[in-house]
Amino acid sequence: MKMDGERLWSRLSELHAFGATADGGVTRFAWSDAERQAKDRVAVWMREAGLEVREDAAGNLIGRWSGREPEAPVLLVGSHLDSVPNGGDFDGPLGVLSAIEAVDALRRAGRQPRHPVEVIAFTDEEGARFRYGMTGSRAVAGTLRREELDAHTDADGTTIAAAMTAYGLEPDRIGEAARAPGSVLAYLELHIEQGQVLEAAGQPVGVVSGIAGPLWLKFTVVGRAGHAGTTPMPGRRDALVAAAEMVQMMSEEAAAEARTVATVGQLSVRRGGVNIIPGQVEFTLDLRDVDEAVRDRVEQRIRARVAEICEARGVSCQVEELQRVPPVQCNEALQAAIVEAGRELGLSLPTVVSGAGHDGMQCAGRWPIAMLFARSRAGISHHPDEYTSPEDCALAAEILARTVARVAGA
Ligand code: GLV
Ligand code: MN
Ligand code: MN
Repeated sequence: MKMDGERLWSRLSELHAFGATADGGVTRFAWSDAERQAKDRVAVWMREAGLEVREDAAGNLIGRWSGREPEAPVLLVGSHLDSVPNGGDFDGPLGVLSAIEAVDALRRAGRQPRHPVEVIAFTDEEGARFRYGMTGSRAVAGTLRREELDAHTDADGTTIAAAMTAYGLEPDRIGEAARAPGSVLAYLELHIEQGQVLEAAGQPVGVVSGIAGPLWLKFTVVGRAGHAGTTPMPGRRDALVAAAEMVQMMSEEAAAEARTVATVGQLSVRRGGVNIIPGQVEFTLDLRDVDEAVRDRVEQRIRARVAEICEARGVSCQVEELQRVPPVQCNEALQAAIVEAGRELGLSLPTVVSGAGHDGMQCAGRWPIAMLFARSRAGISHHPDEYTSPEDCALAAEILARTVARVAGA
């Protein structure tokens, strides 16, 4: 089986144009024009690989290879094409384009899988636009409720439902994207590591054992706005000073645990002005750990200390849950298939844990999932400098292809 690593690399570069930023990164939000253009281009590549292309009710792009038994459960292989603001070229696209290369390589080698194989580009994995995320995979897993499409808005106040409608989809039909558990054999995804474990170990590719679960909370701190020049310091109810203390505290609480990570990535002062005491501040928290009990413990400490800070500073705080995703384990038999595929190429793949979230998390309770990671340079991700070498991309794609062959019976 011959992998076309050069084509994989040139396609990764080509996708950069869709949503390219002046800082050298990519902003490709879900259901945006940039994502539409990227999907259209990828659809062309899917067709060239002999796949039958369609988009489901969520806007997930799917390329199908029916295999020898078209009625047998489907092997889903893919990733996503949307990005964070000013993100990199590899987070998502590597998995989608590698899956196309894998199918193409298998077809050219005359291999026919027993199970149908569907290459899938999930929409809205990152959640950057609506502060929700994995919307396409939630729809496929059948856990996305119609009401959720009205509950989340982007920075312009557009709901997911409105964005989908503008994109040509019908939100009321979202249920049609759901797959019955018995109809899916497994979900496989190749992704960049986005961490430094593989690089430190001198290993190009690793097999993922489990994925840490993100908990996203939104805090709205309300104090009292007032004149910056005339209000004495004692007695002020400055929402931003209280929020600053909370942000600091959250970072300390996470650092007190071995693997917990806490990030405040968005913060805004409502009706702020140079000479106005901040009356209302809104900020988000992204809290993760591979151990759900540890994450929940940190969350409880954070909530208790937020209440103390409110009390001490005379402000109030409302906490809203944006999403709570449990950590998941990857399927052991599928992990073994990836390890075997690596062994065919003379590699002994190390096991790694994913700190980042992935679409497989939404499917994990429905059908088996597994992931493999390609080495990232310096662990940089969600940044224009995100990089994985052409050699590592090609090698990881070849392991993916061999895994697909094993799992789908090609
Ligand atoms: C997605 O990349 C996430 O982990 O937030
Ligand atoms: Mn990703
Ligand atoms: Mn990402």
